[in-house]
Amino acid sequence: MHPALRVIDHPLLQHKLSVARSADTTTDNFRRLVREIAAMLAYEVTRDLPTERVSVTTPIAECKVPMIAGKKLCLVSILRAGNGMLDGMIELLPGARVGHIGLYRDPHTLQPVEYYFKLPEDIEEREVIVVDPMLATGNSATAALSRLKEEGVASLRLVCLLAAPEGLAALAAHHPDVPVTAAAVDSHLDEHGYIVPGLGDAGDRLFGTR
Ligand code: URA
Repeated sequence: MHPALRVIDHPLLQHKLSVARSADTTTDNFRRLVREIAAMLAYEVTRDLPTERVSVTTPIAECKVPMIAGKKLCLVSILRAGNGMLDGMIELLPGARVGHIGLYRDPHTLQPVEYYFKLPEDIEEREVIVVDPMLATGNSATAALSRLKEEGVASLRLVCLLAAPEGLAALAAHHPDVPVTAAAVDSHLDEHGYIVPGLGDAGDRLFGTR
């Protein structure tokens, strides 16, 4: 497994995930469910952000109240399925910047190849939350995290809907320092690299491409 894994077992989130898993769930409902689950995961992944006490004047009195302090946030979506989680997370984190990383698997070497990479200029000063719904082999997430570290990012966390034990082991080997927040850990990968029981191809289900 992974030394810094958190599985969010909130009943509301689990219920929505179970509906999303069903092959009978339509594209529009799947998209909505992923957005709602992503918002709940955003709530949980930011649970340990530092706060500072700031002066606020209410209609009644002045007081010192907590507000988020420390680094600004950046969400980084691993294309293309990561984009399905962005809207839900941005609803809770409206000030966050957004970066995108596109990777595909070379059919010969089976290694991830980068085809798109766009981040805010001040990325190394930000707390970065990488989003990818399916942590399967872990190859894309591992490559994306390595690339972000090369860019000087010091504070990283990864959020996914479903994780496979194989992906968690790959992340534990390469990025044991990066906390992982997931809605569930499934059984294993099948021979095509799909998570079992999983929910199928998250990108296809989000964008209706199959
Ligand atoms: N990517 C997906 O979309 N689904 C899986 O099950 C594995 C990888």
